[in-house]
Amino acid sequence: MAVITIDGIRLEVPDNKNVLDCALEAGIYIPHLCHHPDLPENGSCRMCIVEVEGEEHPVTSCTLKAKDGLNIRTNSEQIAKLRSLALELLLSGHPEDCSTCPKYGNCELQTLIQYIGANNARMRCRTKGFKAEESNPLIVHDMNRCVLCGRCVRACNDLRGVKVLQYQKKDLETYVGTIHNKLLIDSDCRFCQACTEVCPTGTIRDKRQLMETKAKKEDVVVPCRSACPAHTDVPRYIRFIKEGKFDEASAVIREKVPFPKALGYVCNHVCELECKRKEVNEAMSIRNMKRYAAEQDTGSCWRGKGKQLPDTGKKVCIVGGGPAGMTAAYYLRKQGHDVTVKEALPTVGGMMGYGIPSYRLPRTIIAEEAAVITEAGVKVEVNARVEKPLELLGEYDAVLMAIGAHVGARLPMDGNDLPGTILNIDFLREASLGKTAEEIGMGKHIIVLGGGNVAFDCARTAKRLGAEEIHLACLEAREVMTADDEEIEQAKEEGIFVHPAQTFERITGETQVTGVDFMNVKSFHFDENRRAVIEKEEGSEHHIDADTVIFAVGQRPDLTEEAGLELFRGSYLVVKEGTTSTTGTQGIFAAGDVVHGTKSVIQAIADGRNAAMEIDRYLGGDGDITEILAPEQEASPYIGRIEGFGYQERKGTQVTPVEERQDNFNLVDHGICQGDICAEAGRCLQCDLRLQITAPRLWGDYSDKKEANA
Ligand code: FES
Repeated sequence: MAVITIDGIRLEVPDNKNVLDCALEAGIYIPHLCHHPDLPENGSCRMCIVEVEGEEHPVTSCTLKAKDGLNIRTNSEQIAKLRSLALELLLSGHPEDCSTCPKYGNCELQTLIQYIGANNARMRCRTKGFKAEESNPLIVHDMNRCVLCGRCVRACNDLRGVKVLQYQKKDLETYVGTIHNKLLIDSDCRFCQACTEVCPTGTIRDKRQLMETKAKKEDVVVPCRSACPAHTDVPRYIRFIKEGKFDEASAVIREKVPFPKALGYVCNHVCELECKRKEVNEAMSIRNMKRYAAEQDTGSCWRGKGKQLPDTGKKVCIVGGGPAGMTAAYYLRKQGHDVTVKEALPTVGGMMGYGIPSYRLPRTIIAEEAAVITEAGVKVEVNARVEKPLELLGEYDAVLMAIGAHVGARLPMDGNDLPGTILNIDFLREASLGKTAEEIGMGKHIIVLGGGNVAFDCARTAKRLGAEEIHLACLEAREVMTADDEEIEQAKEEGIFVHPAQTFERITGETQVTGVDFMNVKSFHFDENRRAVIEKEEGSEHHIDADTVIFAVGQRPDLTEEAGLELFRGSYLVVKEGTTSTTGTQGIFAAGDVVHGTKSVIQAIADGRNAAMEIDRYLGGDGDITEILAPEQEASPYIGRIEGFGYQERKGTQVTPVEERQDNFNLVDHGICQGDICAEAGRCLQCDLRLQITAPRLWGDYSDKKEANA
């Protein structure tokens, strides 16, 4: 250690630590610009000059090493003059009008100008004439605003080891760019955005400005994690996968969800929609990586190791054993409550077991993951339909209604109740229970009305039950159909005719369905009252023959006023404003589709977590259901250069050939293969590393101390 004195304040600091950091850490502000605590010093801006007793000239404090006896003055008339001069030189090529800069109000240079009080108009005399480079994904480079502090170059070269950004020359101007001015993707950039993070001006900035949104910075920087309704830590588990640590990866996922494997098969992966890699070429295959990790998991990180609080003596009944109910049950049990799930159907899983066909999600997976929940102590009663939830309050301290939305909707149109019409959810449930086409009442020529994943599940299930001709028609144009692209493509491969942009005029037939009359849709949108506004193409009437019509246009909860609970839109449960799950009836909570209609498995799981927190608090707990199951991970900031990184393609999955899959319910998609999994994980931009970079502290953060020192 060394003892140094700064502005009369005696400090004990590590030998050889730079004096600027010693001062800043002690709350003594010395202006600086090229210095960044995570980067090697280059001492170029000279903002940080100080006077050292015994030295003739001021020296840069960022390159001055602490040693015993140093006596330093951070301010004097001479220093102020020199700083002002140095700043004016920096500003000589910087645009005068800060107000047009996207970083206005958040710029380190701007605050420095305010602190030093430089005459910024005097020296702003040169226009560099660079064109802002906006053709790269994620990042804008506007070299007109650059003051050559070199932080980005050091971040790219020293902190990350990617070595893409260099100083370049154009005529007499120095600027920062890539060799031969290649696009970042052609220079093997890893798009980690360390350069963006450390840039003190508006020179290198995010295409989507952080300031433009009210969202938290970490949510914008790592959008996959924030997009996941359960906020699964995606970059963290991808990093484990890259290292081949599948138990650890799976434990990260399990910190937020009790159905990692089921999600790996059927999650609607909203994370992938937000993945920044999509801007470079293709989004990460996040769902399939989750699936691979969950399939390899031996449970070594989490089995018997999670949180389990002592028994509280409180009893909770969960009505409905779908993903929302089972998730809530699991976390409430971990909080020490005595939990019973009452499920109306013969097994738990809800829509995972009775909506999603088994060729997409094998039932053994649901059973395996539900077993973890029952092993944690949750009691499950199947074939136990609850008609009067209020009566449960006599036996239980809290009741969670998580009954899902198990009643299909019949469109109001001619012929909608003819024999031969079937509702989506009834059809899929019966098929899941192993019934034949005949038992379900399905013919040979099918029309499915609807364009979401459930409609495709119906069409593809009909195919597997022996239908000869299947048509699927929906109002939406192909580009805005809500079903996953892979669902649509696989259905087409199986011979299903897909007809987007159709109105359903009437179901024809006298005593039995004979077909559907359609018209083509020219345009379709919802108005501000969520009413469909449809423009039909004149003269486009046409008919398709069928003996069976399956309505796949939504579901609603199986609930009426007889349940004694407050409902809206006829069958949905009302939760109190400002809560996620608390109903107006003391002790009764609600979660999942019964509150907001059908969404997704991951949304239901997130709802189950929220409900568990609220119920735990209601029962006297702290509502904290967080768990750390995976070991701490030291993510190295040094990611290095990888040739062709930006062009690495998303790894596909292995799919059973069409001729082998369309007459049975065997699994269709076999996920990413072993040979590809680490390579796919290696495509991740590791956006979260950016959050490791120390955020700047501006002089205002030190102003109290400065005033005290003045
Ligand atoms: Fe020390 Fe720039 S901060 S020279």
